[in-house]
Amino acid sequence: MTSPVTAEDLISRDELKAAALDFIAEMRAKVQRDQGSLPSVFDSWFIRAVTRLLEFDPARFWEDSVHDYAARFPAQGPSLQWDLLRLRQFLDRWRQGRFVEFSQRERSGIHYHPRFGTEFGADVLLTCQGAPALMRWRGAPLMKNAFDFAIYPALLAELRPRTVFEVGSGSGASAAWFADSLAFCGVDARVHSVDLVKAAVEHPGVRFYRGDCYDPERLFDRELLQTEPHPWLVVEDAHHNVAAVLQHLHRFLAPGDYLMVEDSDVKREALRQFLGAHPGHYLVDTRFTDFFGRNATCAADSIFVRTKSDNN
Ligand SMILES: C[S@@+](CC[C@H](N)C(=O)[O-])C[C@H]1O[C@@H](n2cnc3c(N)ncnc32)[C@H](O)[C@@H]1O
Repeated sequence: MTSPVTAEDLISRDELKAAALDFIAEMRAKVQRDQGSLPSVFDSWFIRAVTRLLEFDPARFWEDSVHDYAARFPAQGPSLQWDLLRLRQFLDRWRQGRFVEFSQRERSGIHYHPRFGTEFGADVLLTCQGAPALMRWRGAPLMKNAFDFAIYPALLAELRPRTVFEVGSGSGASAAWFADSLAFCGVDARVHSVDLVKAAVEHPGVRFYRGDCYDPERLFDRELLQTEPHPWLVVEDAHHNVAAVLQHLHRFLAPGDYLMVEDSDVKREALRQFLGAHPGHYLVDTRFTDFFGRNATCAADSIFVRTKSDNN
């Protein structure tokens, strides 16, 4: 069960304007610093929406003004209501900061898609893995969606993991893709990938193993887990015995390591169980979960960074 949304999760009606203006100041600095003064589609939309909202009576809340406007002008009103809703949702997330507790994400997710926690409909997530065909890597089927196909390289480039552990190899394409992406970033890394059936793909940067999530202790060799260099990226993509698999790997993860749990819409109970046993040890990195909009990833609320070891 998710606990009810609290005041810290949402920006109040009187804080909304100030938050929008603060964000615009930050955005303008970013556009100059990082984008050669060229605004993105999102930047332009945000400024346009706020400029329009500032035309309303400054003594009233934007929600009230827009509500009245929509009643008076049914043709134009809904578009402004949509803008205001999106703007508020974005600012609520922005104010929470980059690293957020899973429980807070769950609480503040009540305004989003009930299963996927996204700000858009499930129709996008239904087809973004490729429909009817999957994407391929080195000729083998890759079970990643279009968002994660962009999120993983950004995460790998920032984290520069020395080791990747993948649970659930599938065809082996994803492990090969991780290894190729890391080589492209100039990172000397090794990828270890396990599945019930050892993948047929061969790649010099990847070692494939046979293992069963119902025997988590033997998924990967203990010595490997004790000696492979950090930082790690651990990817859970086998969908079986998830809490026990994570609990086992937790013993070897170090602060700064990342854990990405794919298809988490069907693993929320397992995540609550695992995270509940390690309060404060993992935070959701919303830079990646929300890069393309809230939870535009199959790892909804489940791209975690480990923040502390068991000793503190
Ligand atoms: C979604 S696929 C992995 C896809 C791959 N990671 C990719 O992105 O292309 C899930 C994999 O989990 C494996 N699997 C299912 N049950 C398992 C278990 N008990 N232990 C280990 N692997 C399992 C399946 O054989 C399948 O290859």
